[in-house]
Amino acid sequence: MAPETAGGDPGTGGAALPRHVAIIMDGNGRWAKKRFLPRFAGHKAGVEAVRTVTRAARAMGIEALTLYAFSSENWRRPEEEVSDLMGLLRVFIRSDIEELVRENVRLRVIGEYRRFSADLVKMVDDAIARTAANTGPILVIALNYGAQAEIAAAARSLARRAVANQLSVEAIDEAAIERELDTRDLPPLDLLIRTSGEVRLSNFLLWQAAYAELLFVDTLWPDFDGAALAAAVATFGQRQRRYGGL
Ligand code: FPP
Repeated sequence: MAPETAGGDPGTGGAALPRHVAIIMDGNGRWAKKRFLPRFAGHKAGVEAVRTVTRAARAMGIEALTLYAFSSENWRRPEEEVSDLMGLLRVFIRSDIEELVRENVRLRVIGEYRRFSADLVKMVDDAIARTAANTGPILVIALNYGAQAEIAAAARSLARRAVANQLSVEAIDEAAIERELDTRDLPPLDLLIRTSGEVRLSNFLLWQAAYAELLFVDTLWPDFDGAALAAAVATFGQRQRRYGGL
């Protein structure tokens, strides 16, 4: 494949825009600590940043935004913090669903969120259903998500079909695996951002990140705003994507 700038429109010289951006929203706890506030205050400010950045992504014309809200490893946090995060998710759905419906946003969830409490699962399902007929940008929230579990589930599903003679072993290729992933009908991941200075992927979108541009920024998540997203997109625009070519 020929080298290309990161998706820019050569015809117009327009700035490159990633179709699909994913964010590991990290640093809520440190944001709170710096202010001598409880961790909950950091997560609450984190939800405000979710709102701001979601709106900014929409305004910029980004097709899909995936946010890592709760990882399959987050269950290891103290019970009170887990329950605070669930509470904030409830508040977010309750208070923001009207805006998502009105703004033509399609809400999607990746991860094993069905293991949350029944009322929260119902809330999430209702919210997804309310935006299902929308045709605009996609907001994907990763809930109880772990990339290795996602890939293992894909392997199990393909193995089941192979054992049932519905699929030949030779047909198990990259595209077949991709069709089993939670992200199957989303645009390819272009840009993966992690805030707060940590430099790791923490089991997030490992398959999908194969050719994504990675960006690690020092900003703590509650401070990440529209300008920070615009700066990240501008950096993306400067990257040369070669997909293994020269
Ligand atoms: C990381 O900060 C953040 C999380 C584990 C959760 C992210 C959740 C939200 C922003 C709120 C809920 C989301 C939605 C979509 C409503 P940290 O606590 O690990 O920060 P630290 O590393 O500084 O301690």
